[in-house]
Amino acid sequence: MKIAVPAEIDPNEPRVAATPDTVKKMIALGAAVAVEPGAGTKSGILDADYAAAGASITADALSGADIVLQVRRPQVAELARLKKGAIVIAIMDPYGNDDALRAMAQAGIAAFAMELLPRITRAQAMDVLSSQANLAGYRAVIDAAAEFGRALPMMMTAAGTVPATKVFVMGAGVAGLQAVATARRLGAVVTATDVRPAAKEQVESLGAKFIAVEDEEFKSAETAGGYAKEMSREYQAKQAALVAEHIKKQDIVITTALIPGRPAPRLISKDMVASMRPGSVIVDLAVERGGNVEGVRPDAVADVNGVKIVGYRNVPGRLAATASSLYAKNLYAFLEILIDKKAKAIAVNFDDDIIKATALTRDGAVVHPNFKPKTAA
Ligand code: NAI
Repeated sequence: MKIAVPAEIDPNEPRVAATPDTVKKMIALGAAVAVEPGAGTKSGILDADYAAAGASITADALSGADIVLQVRRPQVAELARLKKGAIVIAIMDPYGNDDALRAMAQAGIAAFAMELLPRITRAQAMDVLSSQANLAGYRAVIDAAAEFGRALPMMMTAAGTVPATKVFVMGAGVAGLQAVATARRLGAVVTATDVRPAAKEQVESLGAKFIAVEDEEFKSAETAGGYAKEMSREYQAKQAALVAEHIKKQDIVITTALIPGRPAPRLISKDMVASMRPGSVIVDLAVERGGNVEGVRPDAVADVNGVKIVGYRNVPGRLAATASSLYAKNLYAFLEILIDKKAKAIAVNFDDDIIKATALTRDGAVVHPNFKPKTAA
């Protein structure tokens, strides 16, 4: 059983899918682990660290691999080097990428998309969306504080009193709740909003105030999987009016609102940006899915009449060492269910809920029900 860990091809991806710690664990499961040279450098892990953990360091790591652990979906150059039937586990970004899914199917690999994990208790240790979103929420506050020309906490000094900064977090899922907690730790006065009623209690338990239109639609605005639904136009209009009033008085706004498989909802219009005081900062964590904020630009800090709109992509990658260590643990937890520990061999149970939910391609075809090509019957 050979497991490979390639160096990510995308220059904007500093994370890596294994750490020396998970390499040791994979070897204990009976695997031989091959790591491409430099795979961990941007996460602060040297080739020598992987070698000390028992991995072989080779540019040829992919050839003959039974299992490949990656951060991003394999690119064509990588697919060409993989053997048929190889299992590839990564964040596959499957929505709207039909061609890439087809290429993986044609390469004959068994691709597993970690972001499609069901949010069930058994899968929590594998939940890459949570581990990475949590870090993104933290980093969003740090990035906002770095762009903001004032201190966050209230300070009483001999030279006078500095008021606490007002931070508003939109979308109180994993990233948003960590943003709330981080902003609170830095001493800001924090408010937050979400369309899921369950978020209210979570926001309040972190010492922040919940702001939302709490009507009948709001009370049922959560899917069985715990995700947000797309809200009606009427609701969105009411929400926008409430937010417009609130936002004028905020110093920092952090937006994290996402709906799986859909473009990010637009929460902040140009007019709302214009209503904020110069020097205010908005951090849009949804920029990769189109953004929550009108005027956000990917990987840039846009200045709109003195209001800064921060739109970094891959925010977990801005904490690459921490992000990699958690991501690698998530992948190891997933790997454990693919391997028969006694036989020290791969044994994938395609009836397992976790496997069924994440399997994208297999035996030359796209097999996931949400992504299967829609052909005429
Ligand atoms: P997400 O990344 O899909 O979305 C972020 C947040 O934006 C969500 O809270 C969503 O409700 C909110 N949102 C969407 N549209 C909005 C709008 N128009 N206005 C304001 N907010 C909007 O969500 P994430 O962080 O992945 O979490 C979703 C839920 O799943 C949360 O309740 C989380 O606690 C839960 N969860 C459960 C896990 C489990 O294992 N049981 C593991 C991880 C998360």
